[in-house]
Amino acid sequence: MSTPYRIVILISGSGTTLQSIIDSELPATICSVISNRPNVLGLTRAQEAKVPTHVLDHTSFESREEFDRALKTIIDEQQPDLVALCGFMRILSDEFVAHYDNKLINIHPSLLPQYKGMNTHQRIMDAGEPLHGSSVHFVNKELDSGPILLQARLPVLPADTVESLELRIKTKEHLIYPTAIKWLAEGRVELIDGIIYMDDKKMAGPVVIDYM
Ligand code: GAR
Repeated sequence: MSTPYRIVILISGSGTTLQSIIDSELPATICSVISNRPNVLGLTRAQEAKVPTHVLDHTSFESREEFDRALKTIIDEQQPDLVALCGFMRILSDEFVAHYDNKLINIHPSLLPQYKGMNTHQRIMDAGEPLHGSSVHFVNKELDSGPILLQARLPVLPADTVESLELRIKTKEHLIYPTAIKWLAEGRVELIDGIIYMDDKKMAGPVVIDYM
């Protein structure tokens, strides 16, 4: 029997994205959920799914590097094939990112490379953008800048508020993140020298799913 594909998930909050991965019955084992904040709903979700949890409170560390080193130790005990950030709201040190080269992924609520950083839904509304979306990407040393694997794209509706837009984006994130993880777990996707290959073919750009 082959060894199951092992995923460690990092969260900071409500964990709806984590829940979508738990619910997706992927060909993979979630071996640990780690939160940098205590008492968040995402931890309860993991516990209800019988996934082991850890809390590593970043406020009890003196520096980012110190926190990241402790985080790395907990993650490496699990020997993961993939580390998936699910609303993990911390900037990671270069050393940490380099350690998980090719196996660290994130989901970011924008059509990257547009709208890196925080408050994307508000900024999209303020700018009057007709389209919004979310991106699953490999993490590199630059914020929200690694190679993009999969995007969901949807229109901003005239009646949208920041809240309704965020909710619609999240609904699609809950489809694309498990899909991307499934591709990775099945061995269909590889990152080689910063370039994504899918089914052994170099990807010209991300796969984009339109929800128009
Ligand atoms: C998701 O919308 C995700 O795209 C975003 O945080 C939310 C997490 O929600 N991530 C980022 O903004 C990362 N820059 P959740 O805690 O309910 O899964």
